[in-house]
Amino acid sequence: MELTLKNGHLDMPVPDGIDFREEIKKLKKEKNAVILAHYYTTDEVQEIADYTGDSLGLSQQAAKTDADIIVFAGVHFMAETAKVLSPKKKVLIPDLATSCSLADSINEQQLKDLKAKYPDHTVISYVNTTAEIKALTDIVVTSSNAVKIVSQLPEDEKIIFGPDKNLGNYVQKVTGRKKMVIWQGGCHVHSRFDANALKELKSKYPSAKVLAHPECPEEILQLADFVGATSYLLKMSTEQPDKEFIVATEPGIFYEMKKRNPRKTFIPVPSNDGHPLNMCVNMKRNSLKKIYLTLKYEFPQVDLPKELSEKAVVCINRMMAMS
Ligand code: 13P
Ligand code: SF4
Repeated sequence: MELTLKNGHLDMPVPDGIDFREEIKKLKKEKNAVILAHYYTTDEVQEIADYTGDSLGLSQQAAKTDADIIVFAGVHFMAETAKVLSPKKKVLIPDLATSCSLADSINEQQLKDLKAKYPDHTVISYVNTTAEIKALTDIVVTSSNAVKIVSQLPEDEKIIFGPDKNLGNYVQKVTGRKKMVIWQGGCHVHSRFDANALKELKSKYPSAKVLAHPECPEEILQLADFVGATSYLLKMSTEQPDKEFIVATEPGIFYEMKKRNPRKTFIPVPSNDGHPLNMCVNMKRNSLKKIYLTLKYEFPQVDLPKELSEKAVVCINRMMAMS
């Protein structure tokens, strides 16, 4: 049977009344497959995943799993990173059209031009980048370990940091590094949290703690009690004794926050275009039906040329060693 994609995913008929959860469970066992899902996917996807996590946690999991097949429910660059880390495994992606505005904010030529302009700089790239960008990178970071990794470099190291300008500014501020050239890219989700709405929420819930992701603009970070990667915000929501948290990151994380802290209240920060839930539409493209179909037909797969993969893995391995 010839398999074709519609808008990036398989769209075949499925039997009436099919129980996707049960069918996925059976296929996983039959094929020795594992489902990795980012914290920003929908509740039902996180519910059936074998492992949920943030970018760093998912990369570590992809590197160490002994499954034959990885189904990656996240966005495209994450599945690509899993393939780079586990080149012998089959990496399936429920929807190829899961792009990321941050990864799309720099291309190969732009980074080549920047490297030519600043030839003696160490290139540090956020994991939210394509394999082509990683192949031109010295060290990859995630929001979990960016501060830790930059801090390990000599104080006068000249650095190109990209593509997220907010994370770059945050890392520069925390580490005090002076010689950083920061690419001006951004995540369309984290950059559109509304600072005025956040101030109003702080007045309405005066005892609430504010949790914010470093991909948010400075004006949001200044209002936060805790700044860090998604897994760090989850940790704070669990370890801090407070009962109310205002959260400035993608609201998919509420599923795990509420699961771990059923008696606590989590309040989302609206977007500056007036939306009460500031969501990543690409993460939400993952669905049970798409996961079922991708596992059943083992299609679409993420594949990379060997040479590209071998170049891209070097900077990811440096990150793993330094974090
Ligand atoms: P982390 O998963 O590192 O928190 O990054 C957030 C994000 O936007 C992932 O795409
Ligand atoms: Fe990309 Fe932002 Fe979506 Fe994360 S939340 S996948 S950085 S667009």
